[in-house]
Amino acid sequence: MVDTKVDLCGITIDNPVIPASGTFGYGYEFAELYDINCLGTFSFKGTTLEPRFGNETPRIAECPAGMLNSVGLQNPGVDDVIREELPTLERVFHKPVMANVSGFSTDEYAEVIRRLDRSRMADMIGWYEVNISCPNVHGGGMSFGTDPKMAASVVKAVRWTTDKPIIIKLSPNVTDITEIAIACETEGADAVSLINTLMGMRFDLRTRKPILANVTGGLSGPAVFPVALRMVYQTAKAVRIPVIGMGGVSSAEDVLEMMMAGAAAVEVGAANLVDPYASQKIVRDLPETMKKFGIEAFPVV
Ligand SMILES: Cc1cc2nc3c(=O)[nH]c(=O)nc-3n(C[C@H](O)[C@H](O)[C@H](O)COP(=O)(O)O)c2cc1C
Repeated sequence: MVDTKVDLCGITIDNPVIPASGTFGYGYEFAELYDINCLGTFSFKGTTLEPRFGNETPRIAECPAGMLNSVGLQNPGVDDVIREELPTLERVFHKPVMANVSGFSTDEYAEVIRRLDRSRMADMIGWYEVNISCPNVHGGGMSFGTDPKMAASVVKAVRWTTDKPIIIKLSPNVTDITEIAIACETEGADAVSLINTLMGMRFDLRTRKPILANVTGGLSGPAVFPVALRMVYQTAKAVRIPVIGMGGVSSAEDVLEMMMAGAAAVEVGAANLVDPYASQKIVRDLPETMKKFGIEAFPVV
């Protein structure tokens, strides 16, 4: 019998498979398809202080082995998440959930966490994943994730808003991701997660214009897997805090590769949009795949 359990910042989860923010809604939508309690946990949709409609359409463009998105943090706002989304999720999910938080200022990040953490739904939350890497919004998001000082300022602002673990979600759109990870660790982050999407664009040959209304978008899916793996490997070597790996993961084999690169757990993004059962299948395939490669438990040594 293999053991799929992993420790994530002091919380033991049944397996390292975590649907990634923005590709799994607030979870209950997927609970209509399968029992989502099979997952290690999942990261809910990036939540901001105010409701956001997101960017103009078109905001999805298909690519070979991946997709571009410029959704732009569409979400109902933190108060509605506390009032509507989390109570609905509570009926179908009985594990700690990862709360993904976004903002346009360090104060906004802190206030969103404060509201969640002081709400009646706080017990549902296991970790806060602070997204400093959204490439699809202006004046916030990725601008915090591409400069070590800016990244550190977000960690500083949120660190004392909660006793729960803070995971900082990093951008791959930098020259040296380990610099940013080290800055976050130094300021007291409990973990880092990476990668968010890689900035890209496509043209429509007929209109001679960019396909996305936002012009640029974030690339994700199998195309980015080797890049993500390289960044997880480099970051895991550079910091002592846990590293959550993601980017193009679509099979149990990919999960094992991420774990071999040094990930403590693995998030699954675009694969959920291609096949809504993708994460369930990965969880199901994991024990057999571990056995096949002689892995009895994590970490893989
Ligand atoms: C449609 C879409 C929406 C996303 N929204 C968010 C978000 O709200 N917050 C966040 O931290 N990441 C968001 N992401 C990034 C993913 O969580 C993940 O980091 C990225 O897609 C790479 O993983 P993948 O290749 O498995 O998709 C989004 C990705 C997609 C495809």
